Amino acid sequence: MIFEQVRSGGCLSYVVGCEETRAAVVIDPELDQADRYLALLTEKGLRARYLVDTHTHADHFSATRELGRQLNLPIVMHRRSAAPFVDLRVEDGDTLLVGKLRFRVLDTPGHTDDSTCLALSDRVFTGDTLLIGGTGRTDLPTGDPEALYESLFDKLLRLDDGLLVYPAHDYKGRSHSTIAAEKADNPRLQKRDRAAFVALMHGLDLAMPRHLTEALRTNRTGGKTVKQLIAEATRDIAFMSMDEVARRIRQSDPSLLILDVRARDAFRAGHLPGAVNIPRGELELRADQELPDPTTRILTYCQLGKISTLAAQTLRTLGYTRTVALDGGLEGWTQAGHPIVQEA
Ligand SMILES: [Fe+2]
Repeated sequence: MIFEQVRSGGCLSYVVGCEETRAAVVIDPELDQADRYLALLTEKGLRARYLVDTHTHADHFSATRELGRQLNLPIVMHRRSAAPFVDLRVEDGDTLLVGKLRFRVLDTPGHTDDSTCLALSDRVFTGDTLLIGGTGRTDLPTGDPEALYESLFDKLLRLDDGLLVYPAHDYKGRSHSTIAAEKADNPRLQKRDRAAFVALMHGLDLAMPRHLTEALRTNRTGGKTVKQLIAEATRDIAFMSMDEVARRIRQSDPSLLILDVRARDAFRAGHLPGAVNIPRGELELRADQELPDPTTRILTYCQLGKISTLAAQTLRTLGYTRTVALDGGLEGWTQAGHPIVQEA
């Protein structure tokens, strides 16, 4: 077996391949690491067959959609998953064949209603059902401590004691554990009484994950993250450096139209010399009136350089194909000592 654990902060994901056939599966890939899985598959000479999410993640962005698009691969999730883009819906007792490897699906609701574990002959990928020295939380959408109790005590902990446990999270740098070690030492598993376990789970006072809304919004629907939108816009346009813009301002270059896309108040408080202002939200509807020549060289800028990237992409889409964005925002511009002017 070819086995790679990819750590991204506290998130653990896996590339698991069949040595003989080179077929592989990617489990719980994270969006920030998308290129890393692609590189790993190439480096190890593997061909991915499936992309699996063990459950709907609420704390990070899944890469299954992005990788699925790039590699033209089926996305696998439990049949109860809300995500509309799942190609292969699985449930308890199903087996995924990946070359000579057989991944058995275990239905383990509790952390979420679509939580699964994937068992091989010597190891089990436990998602957020069973963590090293912990369990998944049950206070997020579709979580249920009663269901988690049953998934743990009636199913997962009845597996072979020697099985290696590979979870979807670990915040202390540990790579894996075993069923026996978790039975013996995991503090949450010492309450073998159902009511006591449920009370323990209800009593946990956990902070909400940092990107909860954005993670659920994108993971449940296949929608894009804000970072993805900006990355795509960045690929769609070209930029102009601050020094180049400063040079053109010094030379009073009439061919460059400097467009401030911030709100009107921010513009009045201080803007690049010679800039005109169309707030980003008004851009599409005011473009024809205010930017009559589509061949104009337009430079967009904003406070931090993100909105201006999106604005430049919009202008290019509209046909202003010579639009560029300032590489940086007004903040960087002033920090670099370049001039700004204020409205009287
Ligand atoms: Fe989770």
